[in-house]
Amino acid sequence: MTPAEILDACAAGRLPPPIALMHLIGATRSADDFAALVAQARATDAAPVQTLCALALRNPACWRLTHDMLATVAHDGSATIDQLATMFDDAVALSPAASVALYSMGDEAALDGATQDVIALMRAAGLIGQGRTMLDLGCGIGRFVRALAPEMRQVTGLDISRRMIDEARRRCAALGNVRLDVTDGRDLDGVADDSIDVVLAADVFPYLVQVDLALAAAHVREAARVLRNGGAMLILNFSYRGDAERDARDLRDMLAATSLRQAALPSVALAHWDASPFLLRKME
Ligand SMILES: C[S@@+](CC[C@H](N)C(=O)[O-])C[C@H]1O[C@@H](n2cnc3c(N)ncnc32)[C@H](O)[C@@H]1O
Repeated sequence: MTPAEILDACAAGRLPPPIALMHLIGATRSADDFAALVAQARATDAAPVQTLCALALRNPACWRLTHDMLATVAHDGSATIDQLATMFDDAVALSPAASVALYSMGDEAALDGATQDVIALMRAAGLIGQGRTMLDLGCGIGRFVRALAPEMRQVTGLDISRRMIDEARRRCAALGNVRLDVTDGRDLDGVADDSIDVVLAADVFPYLVQVDLALAAAHVREAARVLRNGGAMLILNFSYRGDAERDARDLRDMLAATSLRQAALPSVALAHWDASPFLLRKME
């Protein structure tokens, strides 16, 4: 998208302001070009564009941080699990908040807002409750683990990045019902069959797909194995291929060999993020 198309989509409500800001930064070649665009955009009446400009002005380092992060974690082309683990180790050292949600621009308050959006969606889908267990696949710095552990019986977070898990352990140190482990990224080995009520996969499937579709399919099968009957998996973003029909088709093919079925999503909009959600239920 060109900068004009991004600003139009933001003004029309098709792109949340933080996401539009991230695309705008990605589409500009220098911090000066970006600053000039923001100065122009400030004359626009549309409230979402005003929000975008306010976010940019509040965070003068956002252009540099976004480009550094995009140079650290590859989102296109193929990658191995080990390469991705190293990329995320480096990313979390640059900025913990931006390493898990680039659109937060490294701002912890903005990240919390996006986290609470997802939790509102999970709550509306009936996924949260005191007696329940949750597995956060690709948990990153543990933002969902930390936010949800007080409302769940047990929460496990797995990630391929040692530094992500170190950061998650630091953030969740006060919580007694949390387990955080480095995984080899190939499966959910170590998680017992029929032991989990909710599997959350927030922005992790794109990296499984980036390794290859077989790895994504293996994780869908593994989710079916570890979930209790009636349990649910919430996938936020299946890939970054930019083809919603292909994502839906590939996921449907993966489900065919499992006890997971697609379920209706509650109509809760994410204000900070443009993730595509998929809700799956284990039906034996
Ligand atoms: C964009 S971050 C999202 C982190 C977290 N889900 C969140 O939303 O805050 C993607 C995470 O997935 C992890 N990851 C990538 N491939 C993985 C795999 N095969 N198994 C487990 N984690 C993986 C990365 O290390 C990284 O922490």
